[in-house]
Amino acid sequence: MEKIKVLFVCLGNICRSPLAEAIFKDKLKKKGLEDFFEVDSCGTSNYHVGDQPDSRTIANARKNGVTIDHCGRQFTANDLKHFDYILAMDHSNHHNILRLLKDKAHTSKVMLMREFDTTGKGEEVPDPYYGSEKNFQEVFEILNRSTENFLNHLQQTILQKP
Ligand code: 4NP
Repeated sequence: MEKIKVLFVCLGNICRSPLAEAIFKDKLKKKGLEDFFEVDSCGTSNYHVGDQPDSRTIANARKNGVTIDHCGRQFTANDLKHFDYILAMDHSNHHNILRLLKDKAHTSKVMLMREFDTTGKGEEVPDPYYGSEKNFQEVFEILNRSTENFLNHLQQTILQKP
């Protein structure tokens, strides 16, 4: 079976999307599903290409029992071809991803991360960059819920496991 390819996208690729990637990978590991997936994250901007995730994101993830291992990179048009699911953290990211769309057939791959949230469905994952630890924790909880529901959705629809 071909791997299911999932890409999480934010602006800087140092706060929200590398955290989403790390939480999702942690869930895959716990469920023994790692081999079925390719998972990555990136940013629509080039501000933090080559950078490690923000130290506050790393600390918050650690506090919640999740390890992050990622190096910042920018989203490219090729990502639209390569990945099956592209999850944008906010409307601006979503818009900037679709601006690079050449093949209309790929439109449905691009979704808002919180389409899969139970609380605040369809809202944005707020950017914590100028915020406090409280904001980083809020982002963690949003991503924890959203990635859990996203994975359940994939298990039910694609992997067809209850
Ligand atoms: P992220 O947060 O998009 O969740 O990685 C940000 C990180 C850096 C900047 C903005 C947002 N910045 O302007 O440098």
